[in-house]
Amino acid sequence: MSENSLIKDIFDKVLTKRSLFKDRNVLRSEYIPKNLPFREEQIKTIAQILSPLLKGSRCSNLLLYGKTGTGKTAVTKYVLKALEETANSQNLNLKTVYCNTRIAGTEYRILYELSNYLGLKIPFTGLALKEVSERILNYITSMKFGVIFTLDEIDFLVKNSGDNLLYEFTRANERLKEGSLSLIGISNDLKFKELLDPRVLSSLSEEEMVFPPYTAEELKIILSERAKMAFNNGCIDDVTLNLCAALAASEHGDARRALDLLRVAGEIAEREGALKVEEKHARIAIRKIDEDRMIDALNSLPLHQKLLLLASFGSQGQSHTGEVYLRYVKLCEANSIEPLTSRRVTTLLSELDMLGLVSATTISKGRYGRTKKISPLISFEVVKKVYREDPFLKHIVDS
Ligand SMILES: Nc1ncnc2c1ncn2[C@@H]1O[C@H](COP(=O)(O)OP(=O)(O)OP(=O)(O)O)[C@@H](O)[C@H]1O
Ligand SMILES: [Mg+2]
Repeated sequence: MSENSLIKDIFDKVLTKRSLFKDRNVLRSEYIPKNLPFREEQIKTIAQILSPLLKGSRCSNLLLYGKTGTGKTAVTKYVLKALEETANSQNLNLKTVYCNTRIAGTEYRILYELSNYLGLKIPFTGLALKEVSERILNYITSMKFGVIFTLDEIDFLVKNSGDNLLYEFTRANERLKEGSLSLIGISNDLKFKELLDPRVLSSLSEEEMVFPPYTAEELKIILSERAKMAFNNGCIDDVTLNLCAALAASEHGDARRALDLLRVAGEIAEREGALKVEEKHARIAIRKIDEDRMIDALNSLPLHQKLLLLASFGSQGQSHTGEVYLRYVKLCEANSIEPLTSRRVTTLLSELDMLGLVSATTISKGRYGRTKKISPLISFEVVKKVYREDPFLKHIVDS
């Protein structure tokens, strides 16, 4: 066969072969399905809490929490969309504004997005935060808007910038002569509540709602509804869906993980030229997803924790904290970095333990007190592969 016809052959195959996917987009995590099974309670309750807005009254602030992938963002957007549609059909002055505080990044950016959405122009930078919030509140009053402002992943805002902005917002209604501003805060990390001033907390959580994890059985139903839209007929069967649901439920019932698994399994099957997505593809997919997650975790560590992780690899499988500390100090010195104190390092090691990157077990040394044994939980090969991509760490892992 000539080269030309070889290429043509490849392209022809692609063109004539039926894809396994009908619509891959419905498996993306931003996609909001028309039905959200097992969340009727939450949908109803949130709708009830927000409904005073339709009558021109302020609604309570609301705090939603639950583990990752339990439908908090999807349910909130779903209810807000319905509320907005009703308000539009009645020509009401109601504004629903959504902001993910992790993506927005700074307090200023959050305010910028809010004012932008309301139609109030503020400069991209330069004003004091107080000035911006003042302008927004005046604008809400002058337009008589009923505003519901959703702050998703609100724990990022609080951890990075404290609760000043929330304080301003939760006090806003006392200052608004007309119109109203209510907040929906969403988080998968409840510890952020400890960082809030008690007044802010009690105001933000006028209403609270928990999203429980899904069971494997529930995930199975969520997946099969989505699979009908995502895959062509006969390209996936119940056995594979069951396995994806079970694998995703084995940590906690996380719908995002289940959907990711289904999508990656589908992509693997498609690349392989398989006629349908099978169990084996789901098994490869879970390994790939876990590896990707591990790589993300490794990359997002601060420098000292990266060095500490490297120092946790000794000649034997496990080392005492003291040995890890000595190796860490050596690494720092060899690279002209000021080492942290051993106390600080102990804290960082506990964090690595929580992230599942090392295991730290306390052992008693009799009357000499207690110490910890540290063993890495990932292979040195993986760590090397990831840190070789980092220009600074490259020569350290290779030396
Ligand atoms: N009950 C459900 N039915 C159908 N799909 C769902 C359901 N719950 C969640 N999903 C889907 O699962 C994915 C994750 O849900 P969502 O983004 O709402 O999770 P979350 O609770 O906000 O998680 P995180 O805390 O990580 O932000 C989305 O693609 C969403 O559409
Ligand atoms: Mg979310």
